[in-house]
Amino acid sequence: MIELRDTTKVYVSGGEKVHAVDGVTLKVDDGEFVAVVGHSGSGKTTLVSIMGGLTRPSAGSVHVGGTDIWGLDNRGLARLRSEQIGFCFQFPSLISTLTCIDNVRLPASFARGETGSTEHALELLKTVEVSEKANAYPSELSGGQQRRVAIARALVNEPSIILADEPTGDLDEDTEEDIMELFTRVNGEGVTIVMVTHSHKLASRAARILTMDNGSVSENGSGADDSPGDGR
Ligand SMILES: Nc1ncnc2c1ncn2[C@@H]1O[C@H](COP(=O)(O)OP(=O)(O)OP(=O)(O)O)[C@@H](O)[C@H]1O
Ligand SMILES: [Mg+2]
Repeated sequence: MIELRDTTKVYVSGGEKVHAVDGVTLKVDDGEFVAVVGHSGSGKTTLVSIMGGLTRPSAGSVHVGGTDIWGLDNRGLARLRSEQIGFCFQFPSLISTLTCIDNVRLPASFARGETGSTEHALELLKTVEVSEKANAYPSELSGGQQRRVAIARALVNEPSIILADEPTGDLDEDTEEDIMELFTRVNGEGVTIVMVTHSHKLASRAARILTMDNGSVSENGSGADDSPGDGR
C-alpha cells in the first residue's frame, strides 16, 4: 500500500512559492491500477515523484508497504526504490553511453550488486517490441522506441509498484495500446500501477481515477469498473 498523509511540496521559483502538492491524503492499495489526470502544472509529476522516493516532500509523510520512506536514510531509500518501484519517467531518461540492453540491465545491477541477466533484459525488450534495438544506443532510437526501452527498464526488477508518468506520451495509438495491455497484464499479476496521463481514454482503463488541480487531489469515480459498456 502507498499512503500519503497531508503531503505537501512547496517549490520556490522566482521568489514565489508554488504548492505543487498541497496537503494530499491518499491511499493506494496493493494491486490497484490508478490513473492520475489533471492540467499541465497541476502537480502530477511531483506527486508520483514523492510517492516513489525521488522528491522529498516539504511536509507530511509517505508510507510504502508500511515503511515511512522519507524517514529512511539515503541508502535505505535507494534500496526501496530499486527493489520495489519501477519508474517510467515523463521524459526519456536512458543513459546515452549504454546500449539499450545495458540500460535495461542497469537497475538489476543496482538491486543485486551484480550484472542483470541478458536473457531477462532481452525478454523484456521483446515484450515492448524493441528487441531489434538491443545493441543500439538511445540516440539511435526514435522517441517512442526510447520510451519502450524505459518501460522495459522499469519492469526489470519485478517491482511491486509501477509509477508511470505519461508512459505513452509520444507513442502511436497501436503502440499505446500495446503498452496499456502490458500494464493491464502486469497489474493482473498483482503489481500496483499509478499512471499519469493526459488522455481520458487511457485513464478510463484504470479502475480508479484521481484528478489533480493546483496541487490537490480529488477522486473522480472509477474508470474501468464503471464502464462495462466500452467493451473492455
Ligand atoms: N524543480 C522545480 N522548481 C520549481 N518549481 C517546480 C519544480 N518542479 C515543478 N515545479 C512547479 O510545480 C508545479 C507542478 O509541477 P509538475 O511538474 O508536478 O506538474 P505536472 O502536473 O506534472 O505538469 P505536466 O502535465 O506539464 O507534466 C508547476 O507549477 C511547476 O512549475
Ligand atoms: Mg508532469
